Amino acid sequence: MKRIGSLLIFVAALSACGADTEGKDKFGITLYKFDDTFISSVRSAMEDHNKDKAFLNFADGQSQQPTQNDSIDTFIVEGYDGLGVNMVDRTAASVIIGKAKEADIPIVFFNREPTAKDMNSWDKLYYVGAKAEESGRIQGEILAKYFKENPKADKNGDGILQYVMLTGEPGHQDAILRTEHSVKALKNAGLSVQQLATDTGMWQRVNGQEKMAAWLSAYGDDIEAVLANNDDMALGAIEALKAQNYFQGDKMMPVLGVDASAPAIDSLKEGFLYATVLNDSVGQGSAVLDILTELQKETPDLSSLPHTFTDTKYVWIPYVPVTQDNYKDFMKK
Ligand code: BGC
Repeated sequence: MKRIGSLLIFVAALSACGADTEGKDKFGITLYKFDDTFISSVRSAMEDHNKDKAFLNFADGQSQQPTQNDSIDTFIVEGYDGLGVNMVDRTAASVIIGKAKEADIPIVFFNREPTAKDMNSWDKLYYVGAKAEESGRIQGEILAKYFKENPKADKNGDGILQYVMLTGEPGHQDAILRTEHSVKALKNAGLSVQQLATDTGMWQRVNGQEKMAAWLSAYGDDIEAVLANNDDMALGAIEALKAQNYFQGDKMMPVLGVDASAPAIDSLKEGFLYATVLNDSVGQGSAVLDILTELQKETPDLSSLPHTFTDTKYVWIPYVPVTQDNYKDFMKK
């Protein structure tokens, strides 16, 4: 194990030597996995925002916490100036925090929120994210409006909205809170609701498609709406619905996601996805870099940044509803 560890450090050292790091701040950014649509867009946003100012080195956590911990070790040995961390397991941040604290390298966590206890264990820790309850509430409000304005949406006419729910990774704050608050918003709007089925799709499109196909065979036309914790799973569900001839004639199904990813905006444009909620990857990626950069200054002044800090260490980037009315504003330029 040790040998593999040293080899990794050696390889990373070589690649850092080859890159042009001269005089630049060096930031090590570790992502829970590269292969995630939203996280890829945060990475691109960081690269765009950076414009080659700092040296950024991205590491793939491959959904394995030990792999991510190894990358942190490498960044520390390499003398990186700051760390951007998208935890694999958000409850396991204390190990990483311990290492960074010992080496006095600040960390900006993002997208996967460590526990408050961990966040309060050192003053050079920050978190950039979005209030997941807000995205759930927005989803629920959009669906409630649709259901109220379209009497035919209540297919069996029982006055109850029957829905299925595709949830993200268990334990992820966005999965827990979006699920809870979307349903709460439906109820707050005065609707009676019934959940026909729910399961985790682990944020992935292929799982959204498989679960939806199974639910369509079990419940068919009893399903009146599909709520998904993110766009990838919503788009998977849409594939399964298309295979059952939905979205033709008056065979409609409102499917709602979160993220406003590029493929989701396309789907909205084509009339498949009913609505989504912008999870602002540009806002989040930029804030992570801004904080890391400011912390390199002799006397950092975070209040000079265009971000609002809550409890001195949290930056919350707002969610925005995206529907037929405004999706054009969110198309990639
Ligand atoms: C996004 C998901 C993504 C997850 C990764 C969430 O905020 O909505 O699309 O898979 O973060 O942690």
